[in-house]
Amino acid sequence: MRNFAILGAKTKMMLPQDAMIDTIVMNDVPVTCGIVETPEPAFSQEKPGSEHDVLIRVKAFSLNYRDKNRIFSMTIKGVDTGFYVVGSEFVAEVLAIGPAVSSLAVGDRVIGNNNYPKADFEGVSPGVPTNHASKEIQILHESKLIKIPPSIPDATAAAFSIGAQTTYSMVRRLEIFDGANVLVTAAKSNTSLFAIQALRQRNVNVFAISTSNSFSAELERMGVKELIVVDPECETFAAHPVIGPLVTRIGGFDFVIDPYFDLHLSRSIDVMAVGAKYITCGLYDQYLEMIHQQRPRSYRTNRELISVMLKNLHIIGNCIGLTSDLRAALDDYDRGTLKVAVDSVYSGRDVGAFLDRTYNARDRFGKVIYQYD
Ligand SMILES: NC(=O)c1ccc[n+]([C@@H]2O[C@H](COP(=O)([O-])OP(=O)(O)OC[C@H]3O[C@@H](n4cnc5c(N)ncnc54)[C@H](OP(=O)(O)O)[C@@H]3O)[C@@H](O)[C@H]2O)c1
Repeated sequence: MRNFAILGAKTKMMLPQDAMIDTIVMNDVPVTCGIVETPEPAFSQEKPGSEHDVLIRVKAFSLNYRDKNRIFSMTIKGVDTGFYVVGSEFVAEVLAIGPAVSSLAVGDRVIGNNNYPKADFEGVSPGVPTNHASKEIQILHESKLIKIPPSIPDATAAAFSIGAQTTYSMVRRLEIFDGANVLVTAAKSNTSLFAIQALRQRNVNVFAISTSNSFSAELERMGVKELIVVDPECETFAAHPVIGPLVTRIGGFDFVIDPYFDLHLSRSIDVMAVGAKYITCGLYDQYLEMIHQQRPRSYRTNRELISVMLKNLHIIGNCIGLTSDLRAALDDYDRGTLKVAVDSVYSGRDVGAFLDRTYNARDRFGKVIYQYD
């Protein structure tokens, strides 16, 4: 079976001459990736403890920001002759099921259910079903999979579960009210693109912050009222020539959705309304120390916590979401009210191009997919 892997420095020499391999540069670090063949896992319907197991064949997969840490770990600290199989999202077909499986049948199309913080089944870990989503044949517990409707094409399904489950959770937990002013940061991150689509179904004013003006027309079509370009060096949003007057006009943002708290939290506080809620699902600095690169500058000190107190603000952390969040997103997609931004689909020998587009393309808009032929 096939796996999309990051290779050690000498692994290339050990693979067949016609192996699909490429080297690209990520954050100034050369990274070698390729398709590696391994034996298929053995699936047994009789093995005690595996009654709820499901054998799947992955048809397409994608990578997320979180995978960069694993990619650099393998490249910098991994065994020279080894490889590390990556991927955090997939779409697959069910090949076989254990005798106690009740939610799935052979032939169903499935994606990962990252339900968190509590697993739906005792003894099964919460969170992403696998950090090796590109393994072509896998065995997973039925509670870590969810059936998808025929309306979702494979490429979209391989881009769906983490972004949809996380942002539906964030929007649910914010308890957003009608007419609210919502600020979404890092507008073109996959997470924020999902958040903007999820907000489209609410009667709210969505303002978005981005490092560039590209795709402003697409973002407006997705429901963004105003896209504001903010230089990463901008000290505070309140002093920004567009955000400052906007905040005076609207009285501050009622909600902030932010995928990178180390870039945006301290800068957001001054532009939030009294009693406003801020929610974050992650940080930018997930791998910079490992590759000896500069971490994001710290904008201010803990003094901004004075404003958090004086303005009765809510600062909320969010990790992924519930099965019901993923189900709600799938229902919305099936109804046609949730759209998913897929940037491009790669297959065959385009392994380097897939990785390059995923992490290096400044003009990427949405998820990048690798599909097995
Ligand atoms: N905990 C969870 O459950 C969970 C789930 C999903 C995602 N996350 C987290 O959410 C974050 C985003 O993940 P993702 O996969 O959506 O990321 P992504 O698509 O790779 O994000 C790329 C975007 O980030 C912004 N960006 C990149 N470099 C920047 C810089 N130096 N300064 C400012 N902005 C920069 C740019 O958007 P603009 O140009 O538009 O600003 C860029 O388009 C990560 O921290 C990830 O771990 C967490």
